[in-house]
Amino acid sequence: MSNLVVVGTQWGDEGKGKLVDILAEFADMVVRFQGGANAGHTLIVDGKQLITHLVPSGILHPTKRCAIGPAVVVDPETLVEEIDAISQRGIQVSPDVLVISHRAHLVMPYHRLLDAAREAARGSKKIGTTLRGIGPCLEDKAARTGIRLSDLLDSEVLAERLSVKLPEVNALLSHYGRDTVQAEDILPRLAELSACLAPYVGDVGEVVRQEMDRGKNVLFEGAQGTLLDIDHGTYPFVTSSSTSAGAVCPLVGFGPKRVDGVVGVAKAYTTRVGAGPFPTELKDELGDKLREAGGEYGATTGRSRRCGWLDLVALRYTAAINGLTSLCITKLDVLSGINPIRIGVGYKLAGQELTSPPANIRDFSRVEPIYEEFEGWEEDLGEGRTKADLPLQARRYVECLEHLLNLPVDIISVGAGRAETIMVQNPYNRY
Ligand code: IMP
Repeated sequence: MSNLVVVGTQWGDEGKGKLVDILAEFADMVVRFQGGANAGHTLIVDGKQLITHLVPSGILHPTKRCAIGPAVVVDPETLVEEIDAISQRGIQVSPDVLVISHRAHLVMPYHRLLDAAREAARGSKKIGTTLRGIGPCLEDKAARTGIRLSDLLDSEVLAERLSVKLPEVNALLSHYGRDTVQAEDILPRLAELSACLAPYVGDVGEVVRQEMDRGKNVLFEGAQGTLLDIDHGTYPFVTSSSTSAGAVCPLVGFGPKRVDGVVGVAKAYTTRVGAGPFPTELKDELGDKLREAGGEYGATTGRSRRCGWLDLVALRYTAAINGLTSLCITKLDVLSGINPIRIGVGYKLAGQELTSPPANIRDFSRVEPIYEEFEGWEEDLGEGRTKADLPLQARRYVECLEHLLNLPVDIISVGAGRAETIMVQNPYNRY
């Protein structure tokens, strides 16, 4: 048995969904462990696109169990829509297949309103959130005024919790000049959503521990990326949860010795949505070329992603935080036709070389990358199925990453579809 964690090593959108879909074949259960509907996984199956926000990408494998863990913030409206959309594609989403933690906090309609009101009030200092209410929901969790799925299923508790919460919410909404929310506006719909979700609700922590005790392979699906981590990311331009691999233990509820491997997903270049420092950003035509070739538009918000070169200072940092055991490089095919290719291998700040990203956000915004150049390639990589199929320059690029990060690249993605994948080594066979 082995339990693997898949995490993003950059600012999200690395292609974790595709990797989880591929690795799910070797797992018995797939568990989403943090974040919420701010994430968007674009999956291409049988040539058709499916975007999931909350349901783990493992759902595409009919025989696997999937779970949404206790620390995922669940927007019940989005989740019900998503379950319907997946079912309409002929994929079974029954309570035998999907379990949602009774401890998960709910993203309520007022969380979205507050997210929007705060972002608008920040003006040019916006974080650029996904406006999915994630920050306000997690604030309530920490303030102990949140509402959990188990509360949704108990109408008396729900009404009582709302009677405490809404006056506070409304004071804030009024402060931002927004309409207030009354319990009677939202309770009828919440009752409908409760009825839809009730069959799926269970004790995910317990189910996961049991699966592990039975020797099953559990795959943990992270969301966002390590540079968006609330503690280790580019604060305050981060999400409100822990996005790194170690968080999986407290967030799902099991001990740290049970994780066998951590696969970090890195795009062959870098993208970021929202505001915040991005030292290797390309603000020129080359950035536009990457955006077009890579289809770099957000799966959740449709926003165009900022694009730039690979940043090895950031990658070394996130590899260390996550304790990566191997890497998956995605979108290598997008670099075809770009010559030369650059990789940021160091940062300079006021003439000094830095070996890791500075904590001070003003410093991080001012660092100048030090680049190394690589010869590019013209060939289309989409047909490559083994490393040997890749042009020499593309192989060199991958090998150089392995060398500079001191990590093996297990998987190389050369297109959006399942088949467009080079499995150098199955991470499950490492254990
Ligand atoms: P929030 O998570 O919606 O509060 O957004 C905070 C920051 O994280 C913003 O810069 C978002 O663009 C970014 N973010 C959140 N989720 C994702 C994701 O799944 N991919 C990429 N960026 C994300």
